[in-house]
Amino acid sequence: MRQTSQISKLTSLRAGFAAFSIFALIGISGVAIAADAAPMAPAAEAKATVPGKPKADAAAGEALYSSGDATRGVTACITCHGPKGQSAVGTWPKLSAQHAAYTTKQLKNFKDGSRANPVMMGMVATLTEQDMQNISAFLVKQPASEGVAQNKATIELGQSIYRGGIAAKGVPACAACHSPTGAGIPAQYPRLGGQWADYSYTQLIAFREGTRKNSNQMTIIATKLSDQEMKAVSDYMAGLH
Ligand code: HEC
Ligand code: HEC
Repeated sequence: MRQTSQISKLTSLRAGFAAFSIFALIGISGVAIAADAAPMAPAAEAKATVPGKPKADAAAGEALYSSGDATRGVTACITCHGPKGQSAVGTWPKLSAQHAAYTTKQLKNFKDGSRANPVMMGMVATLTEQDMQNISAFLVKQPASEGVAQNKATIELGQSIYRGGIAAKGVPACAACHSPTGAGIPAQYPRLGGQWADYSYTQLIAFREGTRKNSNQMTIIATKLSDQEMKAVSDYMAGLH
């Protein structure tokens, strides 16, 4: 009995929701929500945030990036990622000029847990998909920041891995997907040139160890690289432009 009354309560809530959001949703998903039998509030919210393809608003993205939104518990990204997405230290990745679709994918992956990082998982918890697209649209317009390779002793090794891979171990050339200049190829292949070596190295380790499992291609590649090779190629990429 108790369950029945809860269900009918939920159903009327849902009917209210469906009526309320009828303008925001395309007809068919409104019907799907009303017809769905399971307890619904979170799923209904999730549906409401993806009405087709929302238009990205770079100005709104800049505001959120720079100031956060205290009323919604969104922390200002600039605190760690720096003005224009050009961070000051390798703990925090540079985000400037990164392809928007890639950035949005990462934010979603922190949210769905396929990229596990305690700091960023907290940051994305309060972001909507529209926020993610807005911030990504702002970041891709910022000038790419350049860096320098630090370790003269490993530049040659790093360069040969980046340009030609390691044939003996079946490691493909990084340049094939990330482009010879490190600018990447939108929308799938991220920009790597000028990134902090420490950050790139951490990501290669994360792919290998499975804390970052949002790319099979990169997991396979990272599994074949030694720590020394990862360090060499990461340092080389920091100076690539
Ligand atoms: C307290 C510091 C901090 C704040 C604030 C922060 N981040 Fe991050 N961010 C990090 C760290 C650390 C990483 C690296 C995570 C990892 O190793 O996977 C990261 C990674 C990222 C990445 C992945 C970059 C890539 O090249 O794949 C994106 C995108 C990102 N952050 C966006 C944001 C956005 C958007 C905000 C604001 C809503 C934000 N961050 C706020 C610390 C922070
Ligand atoms: C077959 C294509 C392909 C090749 C070859 C490739 N990558 Fe990637 N790489 C990708 C994709 C796709 C992603 C983005 C994964 C995602 O969506 O999170 C990526 C992401 C990365 C990242 C994370 C970037 C960031 O901002 O967090 C690093 C670092 C990286 N690759 C390094 C390398 C290195 C080093 C090599 C060469 C040894 C290499 N990649 C070769 C496809 C490739």
